[in-house]
Amino acid sequence: MASKMKSLFVCQNCGYENPKWYGKCPQCGEWDTMQEEVRVEQKGNTAAARAGGLGGGTRGVAQKISEIQTVGEHRYHTGLSEFDRVLGGGIVKGSVVLLSGDPGIGKSTILLQICQTLGEEETVLYASGEESPHQIKLRADRLGVTSENLLVLCETDVEVITEQVNAKKPDIVIIDSIQTMTLSELSSSAGSITQVRECTNLLLRTAKSLDIPVIIVGHVNKDGNIAGPKVLEHIVDTVLYFEGEKNYSYRILRAAKNRFGSTNEIGVFEMMDQGLRQVENPSKMMLEGRPANSSGSCVACVMEGMRPILAEVQGLATASNFGNPRRMANGYDFNRLNVILAVLEKRGGYYFSNMDVYLNVIGGIKLFEPAADLSVALSLVSSLKEAVVPDDVLAFGEIGLAGEIRSVGFCEQRVKEAIRLGFHKIIVPKDNLRHLSKETMAQAEIIGVQYISQAFQAAL
Ligand code: TYD
Ligand code: MG
Repeated sequence: MASKMKSLFVCQNCGYENPKWYGKCPQCGEWDTMQEEVRVEQKGNTAAARAGGLGGGTRGVAQKISEIQTVGEHRYHTGLSEFDRVLGGGIVKGSVVLLSGDPGIGKSTILLQICQTLGEEETVLYASGEESPHQIKLRADRLGVTSENLLVLCETDVEVITEQVNAKKPDIVIIDSIQTMTLSELSSSAGSITQVRECTNLLLRTAKSLDIPVIIVGHVNKDGNIAGPKVLEHIVDTVLYFEGEKNYSYRILRAAKNRFGSTNEIGVFEMMDQGLRQVENPSKMMLEGRPANSSGSCVACVMEGMRPILAEVQGLATASNFGNPRRMANGYDFNRLNVILAVLEKRGGYYFSNMDVYLNVIGGIKLFEPAADLSVALSLVSSLKEAVVPDDVLAFGEIGLAGEIRSVGFCEQRVKEAIRLGFHKIIVPKDNLRHLSKETMAQAEIIGVQYISQAFQAAL
């Protein structure tokens, strides 16, 4: 195979390449991120060669879509139904899954845990560049992973790993983590953008040619991006984010990209002494420890994928000592908070202009959905007026700039979840009322509101 050496400067932030060095990357504008890398260009490593490895179809010949043969996709079940659901029903044969998250969030733990069920029928190769076999064994003992079909390989050279994959023919391969992996032919250090990209490419080709699923762990950098940023997300089939707050034991698994399922699903886990436990009832967990009869609190219902989740929103409005009052939002969009405050002033007559306003969503969950607007407004007004939103009241709805409450999707599911968790009075957008079934309506007091003022009347 003919090869050519080439020296390049590569931005470690965005992957921009140039034969010249720059102090500031012309593409992403970051300073001092260009590093020299020596690239060996191989003829066999061209895009066309890679595409050839993607399996199925005839290379270079366009086909009618109706003539393309499909085989039912085979999925491996991991034993954690929350994990399977996020993947769209299990790990697809031949797919490459990237699992990313902050260090210490539990990526290695969850992957070792799924090895137990996977190992009942399949062989799993767990390649780790981070831990010694001894450490992995200790962790496996703690997690109760005793499968005979689990092979452990502590190695950082991807070529050695792919050789082992070819030799041992496992059914599933786990790589922990891509930032520790290297290709010996590249001069750059482990974790650099070129190493990360080329290692992933090699793993991808292996996965596709042998039809073995590969799960790759990727750390995120301090900005929350996967180190060796977007390049990885483009290459792989599925990108999962494992998220959580340092101070809370629960973790959320989310799909950011999924070629084999929707990205709407989330999985909720709790980190325990014996590893991660699935949380089947996240709303109950989110509402634990709610203060009784306290002002400035209202429960919201947001859809996380296809699942309604309840979360407590707390607002606090206190007299401001400075000319420029403080605004703070945790778990809710800061700009959206400002919009709601403006609507409350203009359309509701509630003045926050000399008030510091703090908003906090309990449990570390983030409310991205506009359906949370109404509970945010209620918690703020409740704090301002020192009036309590009763404990069994829940509200959801999007607030428009005219002070109107607009309808939201999945009303029935939200109401049902609220009823299931013991809420008796549910405030919903008026337009949503007609979509609710009679049975649901009969189970709780459901109030349809059109303007914010009506919602305050009903709740406070
Ligand atoms: P780990 O899976 O090593 O994180 P990652 O691979 O994402 O970097 O998780 C490490 C954390 O999880 C560590 O802080 C300890 C905690 N942990 C538990 O609380 N219980 C357990 O059973 C295990 C294995 C880990
Ligand atoms: Mg780890």
